[in-house]
Amino acid sequence: MRIVPYGDAVVAINAWQDRTVMTGKSGHYPIERRAGEIERLRLQAEAMAADAAIMLERAGVGPGWRCVDLGCGPGGITGMLADKVGPNGRVVGVDADPVFLEHARREARSASLGNVEFISGDAYDTGLAGGAYDLVHVRFVASTAGEPERLFREAARIARPGGCVAFQEPDISTLRCFPAHPAWDRLRDAIAEAFARVGGDVKLGQRLYHLARRAGLEDVQYRPFLVGVRSGDPMTDFMPATAESMRGALLQHGLMTQADLESALAACRRHLAQPDTVFTTYTVIQVWGRTSTTSR
Ligand SMILES: C[S@@+](CC[C@H](N)C(=O)[O-])C[C@H]1O[C@@H](n2cnc3c(N)ncnc32)[C@H](O)[C@@H]1O
Repeated sequence: MRIVPYGDAVVAINAWQDRTVMTGKSGHYPIERRAGEIERLRLQAEAMAADAAIMLERAGVGPGWRCVDLGCGPGGITGMLADKVGPNGRVVGVDADPVFLEHARREARSASLGNVEFISGDAYDTGLAGGAYDLVHVRFVASTAGEPERLFREAARIARPGGCVAFQEPDISTLRCFPAHPAWDRLRDAIAEAFARVGGDVKLGQRLYHLARRAGLEDVQYRPFLVGVRSGDPMTDFMPATAESMRGALLQHGLMTQADLESALAACRRHLAQPDTVFTTYTVIQVWGRTSTTSR
């Protein structure tokens, strides 16, 4: 184990695969917090902000709401929530990664958001008071760390009776590059398999509506969307950047050799740099519904 600086913080790095270690959390989240991961998540959040806003609007999120974003990472949708709930509302971001949380706190401070706090915790077992929140939101945690049923249970537990539980999770079927390229397909397939090996499911979006209903949510809404990315758009490097953030898992599970990975990354980046290259992201499935007012 060695200790290295990461931005303003210091993190512990596992020497055998340069992989950041996070402890005290459920699941086997396989994405590493390498330099570049915060930016990868920020660009993804930015590209998907308009659709997140539509979901929050339709869910009725407004002034005074008390909200939680489970697995908020370096910010997630907490800034958007803070704007919507206003000074009389409250937003709590929960994540297991202290460096992400520190980044989120810095961002909130620089945007003068006085109604947001970030706490370190396990999204699956938060220890937060039950029945206390108007909205519990979770994005890209169940698909990457696994155990979606357990995450729905925890979200429903901390939401107030009649409160809103909202999940956003991917279906990787639409993650396709045009023109197609073997390096793109190779990275995508290896990434999908790496998630599967640790209990994740990058097609979880296909089951999300069913899971929400089975979790007892009522009046469940269903809204899929995807994003189109052109060469040169901010999200252009998404596939190679994701593979780099999963380098440890890809190598550890024997899904790629170091040499395979380097050559696929280079070929994929060359292809993405071609002005005519475009890709469609995974489809993001949004589901949201109300907890029962009667069955607690
Ligand atoms: C793919 S990122 C998504 C971040 C954010 N929700 C967003 O949409 O930008 C998944 C996040 O879940 C966090 N995470 C994974 N397992 C967790 C757990 N058991 N408890 C808390 N956070 C967890 C990771 O640290 C990471 O920040």
